[in-house]
Amino acid sequence: MPIRKTFLAVAAGLALLASQGSTYADDAAAAAAASDESGKYADKDGNPTFKIGQDGTVDWYTYSGYRRFNSECNVCHGADGAGSSFAPALAESLKSINYADFMGIVAGGRKNLSSGNEKVMPAFGENKNVYCYMDDLYVYLRARAVGDLPRGRPPKHEDKPDAAKQQESSCMGG
Ligand code: HEC
Repeated sequence: MPIRKTFLAVAAGLALLASQGSTYADDAAAAAAASDESGKYADKDGNPTFKIGQDGTVDWYTYSGYRRFNSECNVCHGADGAGSSFAPALAESLKSINYADFMGIVAGGRKNLSSGNEKVMPAFGENKNVYCYMDDLYVYLRARAVGDLPRGRPPKHEDKPDAAKQQESSCMGG
């Protein structure tokens, strides 16, 4: 291919990426568990992730995230992250929101001023029932978005790891 044509093709590609804003796209392969630290799974980049066994058994954090989500977030985002007329379907959103951005939005909240509406995502940075379980919420929603986790309470889950018990008591108590 002549150089000029190649350049135009690359430039067009870059423009397309820029117009999409974010290039982050999660999928089942990227979310695959690559390490296991006493029942807490991480992907190959070290970000928290879920694990779902052949028989549907989920890791502890995914199960915990299910419970937290359906007590703290479902009122706006719909049961199981399916969405509502008020707030986006997080079971879709998490396909394009990475771990760091998720933490930032949940801790700091967000208000969509551009559309002139009054829909506000509250800040949860001071709510222990949320911030002590950030990873749980993230892996649960990640499993809903890219892991084929069905709606509803996961029927089976791994035991609660000692590390989760320790982290919970120090976070909730401190
Ligand atoms: C009072 C209602 C309400 C509650 C409760 C709530 N949210 Fe939200 N959330 C919203 C609204 C509204 C938006 C969209 C804000 C915007 O348009 O900028 C949003 C946006 C988000 C986004 C960005 C989604 C996207 O597609 O860009 C994430 C992530 C999120 N919320 C996570 C959570 C989590 C996790 C919880 C529970 C800990 C939670 N929210 C609880 C109302 C809520």
